[in-house]
Amino acid sequence: MCGIVAYVGPKPAYPILIKGLHRLEYRGYDSAGLCLLNGELKVWKCKGKVSELEKYIEGENLEGTIGMAHTRWATHGEPNQINAHPHYSQSKHLSIIHNGIIENYLVLRKELQQRGYTFTSDTDTEVLIHLIEDIQQNEHVAVEEAVRIALTQVIGAYAIVVLSQDHPDKIIAARKGSPMVIGIGVDEFFVASDATPIIEYTNNVVFMNDEEIAIIERHQELKMRTIRNQERTPYIQRLEMSLTAIEKSGFPHFMLKEIFEQPHSIEDSMRGRLHLDQDTVTLGGIRDYLPKILNAERIIITACGTSWHAGLVGEYIIEDLARIPVEVEYSSEFRYRNPVISEKDVIIAISQSGETADTLAAIELAKSKGATVLGICNVVGSSIARATHAGVYTHAGPEIGVASTKAFTAQVVVLTLIGLLLAEKKGTVPESHLHKLRLELGLIPSKVEKILERANKIKDIATIYKDRTNALYLGRGYNFPVALEGALKLKEISYIHAEGYPAAEMKHGPIALIDKYMPVVFIAHKRGIYEKVITNIEEVRARKGNIIAIITEGDESVKKLADHYIEIPDTEEMLIPLLATIPLQLLSYYVAVMRGCNVDQPRNLAKSVTVE
Ligand code: AGP
Ligand code: GLU
Repeated sequence: MCGIVAYVGPKPAYPILIKGLHRLEYRGYDSAGLCLLNGELKVWKCKGKVSELEKYIEGENLEGTIGMAHTRWATHGEPNQINAHPHYSQSKHLSIIHNGIIENYLVLRKELQQRGYTFTSDTDTEVLIHLIEDIQQNEHVAVEEAVRIALTQVIGAYAIVVLSQDHPDKIIAARKGSPMVIGIGVDEFFVASDATPIIEYTNNVVFMNDEEIAIIERHQELKMRTIRNQERTPYIQRLEMSLTAIEKSGFPHFMLKEIFEQPHSIEDSMRGRLHLDQDTVTLGGIRDYLPKILNAERIIITACGTSWHAGLVGEYIIEDLARIPVEVEYSSEFRYRNPVISEKDVIIAISQSGETADTLAAIELAKSKGATVLGICNVVGSSIARATHAGVYTHAGPEIGVASTKAFTAQVVVLTLIGLLLAEKKGTVPESHLHKLRLELGLIPSKVEKILERANKIKDIATIYKDRTNALYLGRGYNFPVALEGALKLKEISYIHAEGYPAAEMKHGPIALIDKYMPVVFIAHKRGIYEKVITNIEEVRARKGNIIAIITEGDESVKKLADHYIEIPDTEEMLIPLLATIPLQLLSYYVAVMRGCNVDQPRNLAKSVTVE
């Protein structure tokens, strides 16, 4: 959801800004713009991709060592050049870029119009820069103080950067409900929506908290205040993220790179947590909350999209192993349906980005009702990671592709580790079975490697089905969430309509869809409710459906029933999702590429949904 980059220091700002926008493209956007302060504030902006902005400003004077840049994901005002950011104030002495929503912008806009302000755009953002200028001129205060006062009048979410023509060494940044990171280099500062545009210049970062304002000035120490005017000491962290982690490293798309990273990312999500030598699991991040979790009346998992699918696998695992009741909620529903929550509940919020607005709101609701809230996030220092009482990072590394892949498998690993740890502490499962599960979990990375070696076979299958308009994904038990996830992967990057269902649900409606044009993907691994899935496959065959089956290596019986099959290694039933998901990720990737879709930045989608 939109991207923000800003720079002040000794270097030319433009190359840093434009490269930073490219690094943030994965977040999804519809227009782009930038502002350089070199004597005056110069703004260039246009609808479309960052590459179009680069063409648009070719030949312009792009000098200046302070500036800011923005990719917009429109919420108020259609995607066009006028509504793109940055926006000027009336005098053109101030300029702003913004990520988020000013919910009370109409009221503010009317008041400003009555005071003689005219608006050029339809955005909520433009209201804010006029308000700042109005305060600055009427109260005769410094620009940072005008920003602070203006933000006390704003309802909504924002990550903003403001530049002032009269202060060519100063950047004002502020956030509430949308992410903002400050990079501290040698006599230079960077501001961005996340660390990816910053990491190649410095690992020293400050993750801003809600309602904080940063006053960034050349040759000065970073100053921070709250919008309530309290001083804040910047908490500088050293970020262990490498440049290669955010490069494609020779892959055609980030998504393919991240699919192939999974043997390592799964390994990393277990590192220091699965101890095969001591035959146990430790999760330091939630150690202090173990008594709470073990005595929880209920665990509520709240998430969105792929993270919700991981949560569904987690429900099956934790109930199966630890015998604690688990419910899985869509964050957007959970936060509004007035749910029954008590201090006896433990909430687990799952989020790759750690910035999903609905999940953040669900966390705040649960905390307000006294529940203990844990987080499973992939981005260190993200808003959700900081809003929860404790948590477990997935350590999957930066996930740039909009379609979540390695984060999903890492989330499932963490949920499996939680289930194993709780079962061990509660004694709900014989130690011999836990031992077997731990050993098998340790083998998953090598088994994923084996599946990835079959990528070309999956590509061949994609060639056959790339022009279909619908698809059904069916699984049972642990593989029902895998069916949902496989369907989401296909629809979100290839734009083919796909639905996931419990295989047994076929006869309650979906079977009416089956004909010779309907590809049906079955997760038909030998473990679990295998015979019943065979029956479902027969039902589809009888109606001429095309069957693509994910099968256990060497399963000759399903090979005879399916039009196409993809073999995955045998494993414990509970761990099948970690393997069965891989071919479905590859299938959706190859279909999308063959359809000429923008795999890393699918239309209408954003990597992190920071607005409601
Ligand atoms: C998954 O491929 C999608 N990109 C989307 O459903 C995503 O999982 C969802 O927006 C939740 O994001 P989060 O994990 O960052 O909270
Ligand atoms: N609400 C602002 C707009 O529509 C900012 C949207 C964004 O986050 O990019 O311009």
